[in-house]
Amino acid sequence: MLLLTGATGLIGVPLLRRLTSSGMPVRCLVRDPRRLGTERVRVQIALGDLSDHLSFRHALRGVDTVVHLASVIRDQPGGSIEELAGVATWRLVRAAERAGVERFVFFSALQASTRSQARLMRAKAVAERAVVESPLAHTIFAPSIVYAPGDPYMKLLRRMSLLPVMPIPGSGRAPFQPIWAEDVADCVVAALPGGVHAAQAEGERYELAGPETLTHQDIVEIALRSFGRRRPVVRVPVAIVRRSLELVELLAGPTAFATWDEAELMEIPMTSRHGTADAERLGVLPRPMRAVLGVG
Ligand SMILES: NC(=O)c1ccc[n+]([C@@H]2O[C@H](COP(=O)([O-])OP(=O)(O)OC[C@H]3O[C@@H](n4cnc5c(N)ncnc54)[C@H](OP(=O)(O)O)[C@@H]3O)[C@@H](O)[C@H]2O)c1
Repeated sequence: MLLLTGATGLIGVPLLRRLTSSGMPVRCLVRDPRRLGTERVRVQIALGDLSDHLSFRHALRGVDTVVHLASVIRDQPGGSIEELAGVATWRLVRAAERAGVERFVFFSALQASTRSQARLMRAKAVAERAVVESPLAHTIFAPSIVYAPGDPYMKLLRRMSLLPVMPIPGSGRAPFQPIWAEDVADCVVAALPGGVHAAQAEGERYELAGPETLTHQDIVEIALRSFGRRRPVVRVPVAIVRRSLELVELLAGPTAFATWDEAELMEIPMTSRHGTADAERLGVLPRPMRAVLGVG
């Protein structure tokens, strides 16, 4: 039995589709099973929450492999970024050890570091350490920006593209190597027990990057072209973005259209020296963003 957290997210959806179509028995730790859509009838469901470590024990019963995708990029009413992306991973690892799990697969992020300016990157670094220092066999994935047509970030950009100008936070110059969620899912499947590269994946840390290095501004411009809209991109100074988004979050709470913690991530470079080499080691050749979004 494989326990998947974050099955309803950007990477979780294509990954779960692959797992269930291969016939693998899967249990999903979810807050709301309805968000699994039609997949909910093909999996076991464990109701749970990253903020509720007691829910982990039940979810882990009889599990040999954990794929831990669930995470947050903004504070939730049930816990902060540090608690839900960092401490919760540490608790899930401890619970997995006690439950006799054999392999723990964890999603970190490129440039996760305890010295990062971004809270998420610091939390991911702590979480990654908990996984590596555990006696469990593990595999870590550290992706650059992951995207899919119509994902929440693309939807936000599409909504913003209705404005006469396209505002982006800060310089827009931070480089990324965007990788398609479907390619990420292929990498995970190859590394899982039963996958073609399962044996080599034990103890590995794969940096998942797409084939192009694009700045945040490039990404926004490609997205605009995929929507068929031309807009001048306007860079908004970081101090103004921060003050405005902190105010928005204060007023709108969890329903804020964007938060400072999210905007700040777009100023942090996320590139890998290895380029696509780690994905290729798993037999996956990531596709360029322009091709995936249908922009020539
Ligand atoms: N997307 C990227 O660009 C990127 C880049 C680097 C690393 N990563 C990492 O890759 C992993 C997967 O990313 P993603 O983009 O697929 O994430 P995502 O689309 O934001 O989805 C997050 C998932 O976590 C679940 N979740 C959120 N809060 C939860 C809670 N309190 N309890 C239980 N589940 C909760 C969500 O479930 P609900 O349906 O209930 O909300 C959803 O399934 C994450 O660890 C992320 O940090 C992503």
